[in-house]
Amino acid sequence: MSALQDNFGRKINYLRLSVTDRCDFRCTYCMAEKMQFLPRNEILSLEECLRVAQTFVALGINKIRLTGGEPLVRKDLPWLAARIRELAGLRELVLTTNGSRLVQFAQPLAQAGIDRINISLDSLNPEIFQRITRTGDLHKVRAGIDAAIAALGSAQIKLNTVMLRDINHHELPDLVSFALAHQVNISFIEQMPLGESGHDYHGSYYSSADALTLLKQHYELIPSVENSGGPARYWRIVGHNTRIGFISPHSQNFCANCNRMRVTARGELFPCLGNEGMVDLLPALRTHNPAALQQLITQAVGDKPLGHEFDLTQGKPRIVRFMSRTGG
Ligand code: 5AD
Ligand code: SF4
Repeated sequence: MSALQDNFGRKINYLRLSVTDRCDFRCTYCMAEKMQFLPRNEILSLEECLRVAQTFVALGINKIRLTGGEPLVRKDLPWLAARIRELAGLRELVLTTNGSRLVQFAQPLAQAGIDRINISLDSLNPEIFQRITRTGDLHKVRAGIDAAIAALGSAQIKLNTVMLRDINHHELPDLVSFALAHQVNISFIEQMPLGESGHDYHGSYYSSADALTLLKQHYELIPSVENSGGPARYWRIVGHNTRIGFISPHSQNFCANCNRMRVTARGELFPCLGNEGMVDLLPALRTHNPAALQQLITQAVGDKPLGHEFDLTQGKPRIVRFMSRTGG
């Protein structure tokens, strides 16, 4: 099966599938302190998630990321992972998690065939970690990172850090040295103004350029030509396996190379994170109409917008939609 293609000629081979909008953390850049979560009957069952995955893979998608909210709040996630992993044509099944439940889940996920895991880690300081995540416990996440390394091997693990000026930016060198010590990769992410969580997106924005300047004072960084097929730019340090990535939705517009689609836990297909456009897959899923499902997906891929509509200069999000809803 040849890859899906949009009307601008971009090949679409990557699906980010959110399995829940819930999370045990309340990261300030992601959620409001008091969140209204979707009622359970509006959330896709794991069986419906599997049908979404099957349909996308049948249409030519070869990489799927399970995401959320926090995907591991769904206790049967390893069941879903194992079913998706055996779909013919799938090249890679990966997971994004906050790490809080990996002590319990790392081994079952490895057995299910998960290829790689991205773990969010915004601070190595327990107080700062809690200030950012509101409810997160750094010790659990540290133990989760160790469990994931033991289950999958360090080369399969990547840390994700959202950069926040005056909150964690001074910790970026320490986070790099943590990644080096554990031989895992790390990516630094520019904060995106998504949702309305009462958080000062403008004041806490910290750019990849500033991060690079800071890190170069501590490490001899060598630009890397590697491309993971995603929006990151990579650097390396001589003598280490660790790859240091920068994901810069503001300073570098990467829409031209976008290869992804997103499906929310409610069965909404978003062709672009930075646009309102959405196609509701739920009716076709709930009426067991595979032909309609395929048709909706093909149509939405074709209509994928050319670029995103973030605007930091206004100091408020133009797209008001929580990341936990769209899928992180
Ligand atoms: N900006 C950038 N990244 C975000 N994430 C969530 N909200 C934002 C935001 N506003 C990402 C983080 C987190 C993952 C689940 O989603 O990387 O680790
Ligand atoms: Fe949960 Fe991730 Fe959002 Fe934090 S960023 S609240 S861990 S979904």
